[in-house]
Amino acid sequence: MRILKTITETREELAKFKNKSIGLVPTMGFFHEGHLSLMKQARQECDIVVVSLFVNPTQFGQGEDFEQYPRDELRDAELAQSNGVDYIFQPSVKEMYQESFNTAVVLGRTLTDKMCGSSRPGHFQGVATVVTKLFNIIQPEKAYFGQKDAQQLVVIKSFVRDLNLPIEIIGMPIIREEDGLAKSSRNIYLSHKEREQALGLYRALCLGEDLIQGGLLNRSELIGRVKDFLLNQPGLEVDYFEAVQAEDLSAPDILKGKIIIAGAVRAGSTRLIDNILVEV
Ligand code: PAJ
Repeated sequence: MRILKTITETREELAKFKNKSIGLVPTMGFFHEGHLSLMKQARQECDIVVVSLFVNPTQFGQGEDFEQYPRDELRDAELAQSNGVDYIFQPSVKEMYQESFNTAVVLGRTLTDKMCGSSRPGHFQGVATVVTKLFNIIQPEKAYFGQKDAQQLVVIKSFVRDLNLPIEIIGMPIIREEDGLAKSSRNIYLSHKEREQALGLYRALCLGEDLIQGGLLNRSELIGRVKDFLLNQPGLEVDYFEAVQAEDLSAPDILKGKIIIAGAVRAGSTRLIDNILVEV
């Protein structure tokens, strides 16, 4: 496995593989089983596997955790190597955003005026811009993303389609701890007590899933019931709870087909997101 730090050397190196399929796994590092599941899938489906490791400043808002975001490059390199990754693309902030950088991928509001998009203004523009840059630098045939960031996945599929980028976007299931907590690099921030309390979000999503499976498809009633439960979970401050159509995040009065129930909470100062995909 090689670690590539500059865009020039990355382009030169990957140009060798003109007739091979390149799979890209974009990440911000501090790997856990969720990241590794994407690498394993890419390893199975592609000739060359590239993981990008870049904590992208443009997707963090003011007062968010860009500076504190957990980093462990040595451990990440070992984990990537042992999961069959061929290259880590690990640029500096300067390499990705030179001083004169002055461009962004602008997204329509329909996918971004809700859920994480409304609590983190500018976040998805930062994600779309960096992911577009990564696609242009690596030029993968396939790119792998987790369903954990459900809105991110819908946004990425949407701009890839709209901009005719020749890349297949592959969504992968959420990897959880044994008790159900979704694996996240940010879980390291949680104290022992907060770690226990964080499970309240998963419990709320499970309640939502049960209600839907039991036939409750009236969206506002469903949201009301689950939000009541979530608001009663100790130690959690609710950011949002939503139930939307999985394909386009639309919010009809009566849900149908593939539904995402999703929530974001704060446990102490840590913001956690999770979701469950339910099909009726
Ligand atoms: P990051 O949070 O590091 O996540 C990298 C990828 O891992 C994302 O596609 C995310 O959905 C996936 N992932 C995270 N936790 C997961 C879990 N428990 N199960 C399955 N997949 C999981 O998402 C980002 O980075 C950034 O926004 C990025 C796309 C790299 C752009 O900067």
